[in-house]
Amino acid sequence: MQTVRVPLGERSYDVLIGDGLLAQAGALCAQRLAAPAPQKVLVVADETVFALYGETALASFRAAGFRAEYSTFPPGEPSKTLATLERILERGAATELGNNDFLAALGGGITGDLTGFAAACHRRGVRFVQLPTTLLAAVDSSVGGKTGVNLAAGKNLAGAFWQPSLVICDPATHATLPAEEYANGLTECLKHGVLFDSALFDRMAARQPGAPLPAEDIRRSIELKRDVVVGDEKDTGNRRLLNLGHTLGHAIERVSDYAIPHGAAVALGMVLITQLAQAQGWCGAELLPRLRGALAACGLPTECPYAPQELFTALAQDKKRSGGNITIVAPLRIGQCTLRTLPLEAFKQFISNK
Ligand code: NAD
Ligand code: GLY
Repeated sequence: MQTVRVPLGERSYDVLIGDGLLAQAGALCAQRLAAPAPQKVLVVADETVFALYGETALASFRAAGFRAEYSTFPPGEPSKTLATLERILERGAATELGNNDFLAALGGGITGDLTGFAAACHRRGVRFVQLPTTLLAAVDSSVGGKTGVNLAAGKNLAGAFWQPSLVICDPATHATLPAEEYANGLTECLKHGVLFDSALFDRMAARQPGAPLPAEDIRRSIELKRDVVVGDEKDTGNRRLLNLGHTLGHAIERVSDYAIPHGAAVALGMVLITQLAQAQGWCGAELLPRLRGALAACGLPTECPYAPQELFTALAQDKKRSGGNITIVAPLRIGQCTLRTLPLEAFKQFISNK
């Protein structure tokens, strides 16, 4: 088992990584959740994950002496709503989950975001643990305490910063992930490499197609995310670097009517922003072929099928509400990126000159 410490003062916690850890989740929580000792846990999962891993998790908690109940919801982004949050909260109240008890998020980023927000709201705040079962949740969403739900007005528009008390990452659970879901996580790992760590980037560029990511690279990716969160817990500064590829990626998702999945769209967003950075002279010409090579090694696309103008229209619609400026994350070299804020009109010019 490997451990990554997230030092955030009284909100500090550990991320434990190891194959088979899900079956030890109960014992690990009993050992590691600080006094006052919890008696009960509410396990939250989507129906797909519950069918695969629900019994393992519940049996593990019960064997460790917890009273374990559960709440499930249909898989997918349409479930990340206030209505699902309400059902989780009602289940927590019905099972008399007390101030010392905790919730457990068993699943991907949707489950983690919903459960963390429910933990922030239940009795004005109780503990929760993350049991990530997607690669994306393991290397990204389970660390850092961003929780929330979508509103009709947009994604993640209601939420709270609420750090987990423990993260238990069992990479063996990734074996059942559909390839597209695994690729979503690979995109985020590669993003961490482009942002902060050329050695991680190079290892991913050299990977055998289809091979699972070694635990060492999962750990490294988590450490990189941890370092950003510790430096900017509330997302007012450098945490925004984690948006690399995401602004244009979201535009690509929208223009494709969500036919291009999130990980592939962010991969293409990284390609486009690198083209733009190269056109501006912010990075050298060697960066783009290196990035494309690494994306291809991860089974991700490298050529955006849309014209910049189409993307700009989607982007402008999306950003209008947040004023006339856009902050982009531009690569300078593999392992170093920078934030640049531009008026939307300048960004349009910037795109047209790509
Ligand atoms: P997800 O939770 O929907 O999981 C993806 C799919 O994989 C689901 O259909 C799920 O049922 C299935 N699944 C999960 N684990 C499985 C397994 N081991 N085997 C088989 N199937 C499995 O999505 P995700 O990609 O993990 O997360 C995306 C969400 O995370 C988005 O809502 C996004 O906004 C959020 N997010 C949050 C943060 C954060 O910092 N809080 C960061 C990045 C993304
Ligand atoms: N995934 C973005 C963040 O945690 O800030």
